[in-house]
Amino acid sequence: MNTISKIKYILAILVFSITFFSCENNVEEETPIIGRDEPCDPDISFVAKIKPIIDGSCIRCHGGSQAPDLRTYAGISNNAARIKTQVVNRTMPQGGSLTNEQIELIRCWIENGALNN
Ligand code: HEC
Repeated sequence: MNTISKIKYILAILVFSITFFSCENNVEEETPIIGRDEPCDPDISFVAKIKPIIDGSCIRCHGGSQAPDLRTYAGISNNAARIKTQVVNRTMPQGGSLTNEQIELIRCWIENGALNN
């Protein structure tokens, strides 16, 4: 190799390294999904937040004919543990889906004691 080729070679390596490392450093933080172990808001309201989700996503099946009956607070709170499992693992709503936020609201409301609030 003559001197010019050596310089070109070194420059090529430099350019490559700079590109490579600057890319690595610029990897953007992923938008966090609400984590399952993040602290829950202690004031999630059954009436304002939970009932509308159940009415919108569950009642067409769990409106009396399919157990568990989720039409009332009693029906929902009596099945809270099972609802939490089914919703968090995305088994329910069957044939549909909830947003991460809706799942977190249900999980937290149940972990807060499934209050009639
Ligand atoms: C398309 C109809 C349909 C929808 C919508 C639906 N479910 Fe279900 N669900 C079923 C059927 C059918 C079963 C019984 C068979 C089974 O467990 O898969 C069931 C079972 C369940 C059970 C009992 C599971 C167990 O522990 O044995 C729970 C709890 C439940 N659903 C909660 C919900 C909740 C909460 C929603 C709304 C977020 C919902 N379901 C939406 C059809 C539905």
